Amino acid sequence: MNTGNSIAVAFDAVATIYDAARPRLVPCFDRFYGTAVRLSSHALRNTAEPDITDLGAGTGLLAALVSQSLPQARFTLIDISADMIEQAQKRFSSLDAQAAFIVADYAMSALPQDQDAFVSALSIHHLEDCDKQALFTRIFDALAPGGIFINAEQVAPEPPAVMADALEGWETDVRAAGGSEDELASARERMTHDKCASESAQLEWMRAAGFHNVATAFREGMFCVYSGRKPA
Ligand SMILES: C[S@@+](CC[C@H](N)C(=O)[O-])C[C@H]1O[C@@H](n2cnc3c(N)ncnc32)[C@H](O)[C@@H]1O
Repeated sequence: MNTGNSIAVAFDAVATIYDAARPRLVPCFDRFYGTAVRLSSHALRNTAEPDITDLGAGTGLLAALVSQSLPQARFTLIDISADMIEQAQKRFSSLDAQAAFIVADYAMSALPQDQDAFVSALSIHHLEDCDKQALFTRIFDALAPGGIFINAEQVAPEPPAVMADALEGWETDVRAAGGSEDELASARERMTHDKCASESAQLEWMRAAGFHNVATAFREGMFCVYSGRKPA
């Protein structure tokens, strides 16, 4: 089974229970997703009908939050897991938002072009580092001039030797947020697919891809939100 297939299988398996566990497994949930929403609504406040693509959209959590502050936006949600996308379609059926849904591996398939924004949450860390770098360049090329890429991501601690401490800190926070041992075990199993890169490496790859104004807007433990703009 190739990597993409095993990721699809892992997320297909949890699609119907995914949303309920999120605030416990992402203990900084409100500030983490809230930062991505704030960055997108600020960047696109003067764009009449922004086109926004969510990479690894899953159940549509991030896109739905962004749509609350940008009700005129048109969304494309891409995910390799058909069952996660099915949940996203259900979520958007009760929202007054325009959305298209694509089941695909965004590392292999063509990206929507002339987008005003690409957003992504907790997904790109499933790619190898060389594929992350290639994706950043493809996102840059697919953005309209002045467009923004916002990545709310799980990053590797620096130096790598503090990884065990970082994971222990996350587990403590998950338990404090009410997370069960079953939820932790299931999350740890999915995390075997993770290939997290450090924040500093990712910011460097963003600049190398051509992005300007590359900056981190939020960081807590392994959770980081950064963005960059394509020059107008
Ligand atoms: C942890 S979930 C995050 C979902 C959503 N963005 C959120 O914040 O709740 C990661 C998602 O990325 C998707 N994914 C991982 N690698 C992918 C790839 N190469 N192409 C498309 N989707 C991918 C998985 O199927 C999964 O739905």
